[in-house]
Amino acid sequence: MSSLKDLFDKNQGWSERISQQDPDFFPTLAAQQAPQYLWIGCSDSRVPANEIVDLLPGELFVHRNVSNLVVHSDMNCLSVLQFAVEVLKVRHVMVVGHYGCGGVRASMDTRRHGLIDNWLSHIRDVYHQYRDLIGPWQDTAVQNDRLCELNVIEQAHNVCNTTIVQDAWDRGQPLTVHGWVYTLTNGKLTDLDFCVSGRDEIDPELDRAVSRVARVMRG
Ligand code: CO
Repeated sequence: MSSLKDLFDKNQGWSERISQQDPDFFPTLAAQQAPQYLWIGCSDSRVPANEIVDLLPGELFVHRNVSNLVVHSDMNCLSVLQFAVEVLKVRHVMVVGHYGCGGVRASMDTRRHGLIDNWLSHIRDVYHQYRDLIGPWQDTAVQNDRLCELNVIEQAHNVCNTTIVQDAWDRGQPLTVHGWVYTLTNGKLTDLDFCVSGRDEIDPELDRAVSRVARVMRG
């Protein structure tokens, strides 16, 4: 039986390194977590949440799934959101997609991929919604990039429409929802101009973000 010894060795080294730098780090962290941010990102191994924004353990609450989807009835994602907003009282929720997302590409593939096609149907819905903007599907890199962006915007929009976020705003709790995209080839994040801090901002910000994608699409 393999015990993945190399990973345990790496863990040992990491734990010792951190403790040497700051002996109080783990005891303090174990006592409480007070992150300001909830990151909803893709499961892709090349998009590690903490590293990208250079934050330490304890600073970022994270939910990841294939293609960073926020499905209205996904109890897993909604439970993370509820805990982050109501208990941890995060100030920001960011939906972070990435260019070259395999889930986004596979969503427009005519081939079958098994069970995951049911999950990817949510991205297909986004494509159909913005078909006029993206054009007939040819799976070009440009179309794929725009669908990655529109998918982020729609998922961030879904976050805003949850009872959890709406209730927080009704209570007067400060909470902002963002839509970002990550570029694998240079490690940089781009703000997709969707930044909503209250109910009244949802529609204008959605229009603003989609207009931005349309401008890029037109060149
Ligand atoms: Co992905």
